[in-house]
Amino acid sequence: MARNDTMAQTGLDDAAEAPYRRFNIPANGFRNYWNPILPAAEVGRKPKPVRLLNEDIVLFRDAGKLFALEDRCPHRGMKLSLGSCDYAGSGTISCPYHGWTFDGASGQLVAALMDGPDSPIVRKVAVKSYPVREHAGLIWVFVGDMAPVPLEDDLPEFIADQVTFFSIVRYCDYKANWRWLVDNWPHDHHGPYVHRTSPELLFQPMLPFGMTVTTTPLPNDKGIAVDGVNGITSGDYAGLGTFPRNNWWRCMTPAGRGKTEGFETSAARRRYGIQHQFETRLPGMVVVGRQSGEYCLVQWATPIDETTTRCFNINNWRRHGTLRGLYDRAHYYLWRGWAHDGTFSGQDKRMVEGLVPGPERLSKTDAGVIAWRKYAGAHARRAPEQDSLRHRGAA
Ligand code: FES
Ligand SMILES: [Fe+2]
Repeated sequence: MARNDTMAQTGLDDAAEAPYRRFNIPANGFRNYWNPILPAAEVGRKPKPVRLLNEDIVLFRDAGKLFALEDRCPHRGMKLSLGSCDYAGSGTISCPYHGWTFDGASGQLVAALMDGPDSPIVRKVAVKSYPVREHAGLIWVFVGDMAPVPLEDDLPEFIADQVTFFSIVRYCDYKANWRWLVDNWPHDHHGPYVHRTSPELLFQPMLPFGMTVTTTPLPNDKGIAVDGVNGITSGDYAGLGTFPRNNWWRCMTPAGRGKTEGFETSAARRRYGIQHQFETRLPGMVVVGRQSGEYCLVQWATPIDETTTRCFNINNWRRHGTLRGLYDRAHYYLWRGWAHDGTFSGQDKRMVEGLVPGPERLSKTDAGVIAWRKYAGAHARRAPEQDSLRHRGAA
């Protein structure tokens, strides 16, 4: 059965699945995409266990190459990640239990050390090997049921093109399903409420709320652009009073997220032709194209399993020479890394981890969430066999 097209394998209960089942959005993530799994600096010669889309994988390097194999020895089930690379330069990993040794590229058994050099089982057994790449300081792995697409096909330009841009990454694990984190991104209006106390926005004008949200499909099944118009920055609520209640400290000139200048006239649009300020993209990320076009944040929800999501904040700057690069890095490490990737994202983490899944009563602010769910389920890449099953099922 097509794995993206069934919910039967999930351990989440029925109520938790209900909002996603009708759109065919799987609990363990969309297969057949590249996802980041770890910063490249965290993977060396010592085998490293990771989980991605509920599959256990061991990563290791040898002779300058990176390998990703299924993290289970087919002999008697030991984790290969507890083993070691005993034959430097061979690109192999040896199981710690009886020394079965696997080729990192093909996954084939190349020696069964305790069986002796002439073991007939050699090359008759293999573990699954995964396409793996190092790019923009991250390790990317393709989990799927088809030949991998080029990595660059799945990356926003700001990450794909490391000649024009450079990236700094910070990540954090959320105790939450990946879908709850992505639902947080297509302009569901949590921003003006949840983040009104974040240091990044504290002194800036209130973000508009009560907006009408519109969505536009992006070309090539990439995702949707999300725009909001006609917002208010304060309101009177019968019997309660006004919101926000106290605004005297919001005295700074609008900048960054607080800037109200229309994106149509922004430098990003004029100079670089960036079409949209906010995009939610497959397999599960938000691309925030800033007003200047010099910087872009990509937040990427990597599904670990049904109850854990790795959230990557991938900060990307356009390269403008050494001095400007030093300034951008200093600004990140002295301010933005803490103010946004730590504190601002920490507010989102608290919300997403605090969700109690079940029936929903959606309202005006959820137009982007509904559009995303519909789009993602209908446009996610599927292996050819899965796609034909899906169309037969729909016929
Ligand atoms: S379990 Fe791996 S070699 Fe025996
Ligand atoms: Fe947020």
